[in-house]
Amino acid sequence: MKNLISMRDLTREETLRILELAQEIEGGKTRPDLSGRLAALLFYEPSTRTHFSFDTAMKRLGGQTLSMSGSGSTSVQKGESLADTLKTISMYSDLIVIRSPVEGAARYAAEVVDIPIINAGDGANQHPTQALLDLYSIRKTQGTLEGLSVALVGDLKFGRTAHSLVQALAGFRPTFTFVSPEHLVMPQYILEDLDAAGVTYHHQTTLDGVTPGLDVMYVTRIQRERFADPEEYEQVKDSYVIDREILSDAKPTLRVMHPLPRVKEVSTEVDGTEHAYYFQQARNGVPIRQALLALLLGAAS
Ligand code: NCD
Repeated sequence: MKNLISMRDLTREETLRILELAQEIEGGKTRPDLSGRLAALLFYEPSTRTHFSFDTAMKRLGGQTLSMSGSGSTSVQKGESLADTLKTISMYSDLIVIRSPVEGAARYAAEVVDIPIINAGDGANQHPTQALLDLYSIRKTQGTLEGLSVALVGDLKFGRTAHSLVQALAGFRPTFTFVSPEHLVMPQYILEDLDAAGVTYHHQTTLDGVTPGLDVMYVTRIQRERFADPEEYEQVKDSYVIDREILSDAKPTLRVMHPLPRVKEVSTEVDGTEHAYYFQQARNGVPIRQALLALLLGAAS
């Protein structure tokens, strides 16, 4: 494993190894040493959790970071190409974490530089480190990844976390319910992957009957920044709101997850219930990213 660009690039064994290592790090059984190592965090799009948790992960293992949030203060403003920016940054650092609004940007980065690249989100395409922390969260709360009933709710067209998570779970015999507005359904290329893997899924536009028997409800934000037409966003923005009422017939073990940030799609009244898991989920981003950094920098195997 030289880079992490897409969940599709990871074998089941590699995925499970990352989760194991994260668990060992979180439990204090092992502490990879990243002292003297530098990770460049290149964020061309806003971020709170991903940026801060990579920063935290690196520093808590003794490493250091270089950070860019938005290209405003860099030579990108003078017209420097992404390739030249990346090549330059690779002269100063040992690994690059990149988030870009452009689909394929991380894959491109891996082609132009020799140091490891981690995709921290490329447009509406992929967000593999989020998927790994989602898997970690699911296994922690459900005790297994096998045979779970998982609903994904919200913007399944533009939601990169949903794309990566579905691919990440596909090898574990899940049953998926996709809940989205008609115009925001899961892309066809992902459904084709699921068909090839023999995964059971169905699509619906309302939350009717979703909760009973469900293990994980994974809620996503309607991705306003990906809409070409603001009117279209206005029409779908409040399509779903998860509240106590919707969870009234849930199994006690059902967990509501969300990559965050949320807008209104999970009511704050859910925060105090046994079902809410989104803030713990965000915390799980640290051991997962520590494990990834250690593996890609050769400090763990
Ligand atoms: C997500 C993202 O950037 O794709 N946020 C995150 O990394 N936790 C989800 C979102 O922005 O809706």
